[in-house]
Amino acid sequence: MSRLGIEGVTKSFGRTVAVDGVSLDVGHGEFLVLLGPSGCGKSTLLRMIAGLTPLSAGRIRLDDTDITHTPPRDRDLAMVFQSYALYPHLSVARNIGFPLRARRRTRPEIRGRVAEVAEVLDLGELLERRPRELSGGQRQRVALGRALVRDPGAFLMDEPLSNLDAKLRSSTRAELTGLHRRLGSTFVYVTHDQVEAMTMATRIALLNAGRLEQVGTPAEVYDEPASVFVAGFLGSPPMNLMDARIVSRNGELRAVAQDIDVPLGIAGELPPRDVVLGVRPEHLAPAATPMLRAQVRMVENLGSDEVAHCTVGSAAVSLRGPRPLGMSTGDALGLGVAPHHIHLFDRAGGRRLTWSPDPASEPFAASPEPNSPYKPAHTLR
Ligand SMILES: Nc1ncnc2c1ncn2[C@@H]1O[C@H](COP(=O)(O)OP(=O)(O)OP(=O)(O)O)[C@@H](O)[C@H]1O
Ligand SMILES: [Mg+2]
Repeated sequence: MSRLGIEGVTKSFGRTVAVDGVSLDVGHGEFLVLLGPSGCGKSTLLRMIAGLTPLSAGRIRLDDTDITHTPPRDRDLAMVFQSYALYPHLSVARNIGFPLRARRRTRPEIRGRVAEVAEVLDLGELLERRPRELSGGQRQRVALGRALVRDPGAFLMDEPLSNLDAKLRSSTRAELTGLHRRLGSTFVYVTHDQVEAMTMATRIALLNAGRLEQVGTPAEVYDEPASVFVAGFLGSPPMNLMDARIVSRNGELRAVAQDIDVPLGIAGELPPRDVVLGVRPEHLAPAATPMLRAQVRMVENLGSDEVAHCTVGSAAVSLRGPRPLGMSTGDALGLGVAPHHIHLFDRAGGRRLTWSPDPASEPFAASPEPNSPYKPAHTLR
């Protein structure tokens, strides 16, 4: 088990800044998931941790050792790539044992470790086969086995499940989580699949265009997204985001726009302020006192749930709930949301606004951006 320290790590390829000043600590035994859309810098960051891509700036530490300039083979890290890259001419057993042979371990030791790993990954029956005689999922497990055989300081994995079909993906996901629990090792795991991130991670680091948007437990990033980007990335469908304006009416703050009039549940007299109003699809429901006036455009059947895709003013808004929702195309609906399920974001900067019902304190403060000494510049007084 090891601790990883990533400090101000930056990577530029010519004019492209692939990773931009990322700082992040990965604790002993954590399962940290690097999550973000295609091209946001996940693989580049992982390759820098592995030592396969040199840094443009910053430092990387493994426990108390600075490994920024340490060659990959001396880093005590095991990496699993998206493409499994097995040796086609070697048997499963020899593929798994390869890292130990390269380290000149004794034959009995290698045989013992390979057998242990094969047992864990349920590969015992396949040890004499060649990679071409295996299914994609079995090859995937051999690639994992080759990493696991070493008992390294930390595991680095880049979309290791991306080539599996949905069912195998889900079972291998559970296997990996179980493995992490049993081994107690440190994992850094790259994916763009939010289900993998939500189900496997102890913490998620969300990247956007090379920068860290938010780091937190799956519950934290889902329940309190730090920015419009995070809110719009997580969830299925993701959070509804609507431009609105905070105004005071009769001593109460409300978010208003065309077809939108949402009481925030707090008292206050403040000058108007432009925000982005966020509500998760599962937190919207038909209400006696409508806050959003919606037109249903289409209803999608997901099996257990239904999603109603609607229009509210100029915004696309979706609502999700158990099937049947009892809505159909063309319906006009009045929707409501509980105040504790309302999210507000600064319109200009996109950062989350927190608000407090205490009139003596600043009612709104923007959440700080990780790694930047962001000052909550906007308050309403
Ligand atoms: N060797 C390279 N030379 C030039 N640009 C590169 C190189 N490697 C990556 N990039 C660029 O850096 C950015 C980040 O790439 P990276 O592979 O880290 O993204 P990613 O988050 O892993 O995406 P994906 O989910 O598609 O795998 C991209 O804009 C990519 O085009
Ligand atoms: Mg990648």
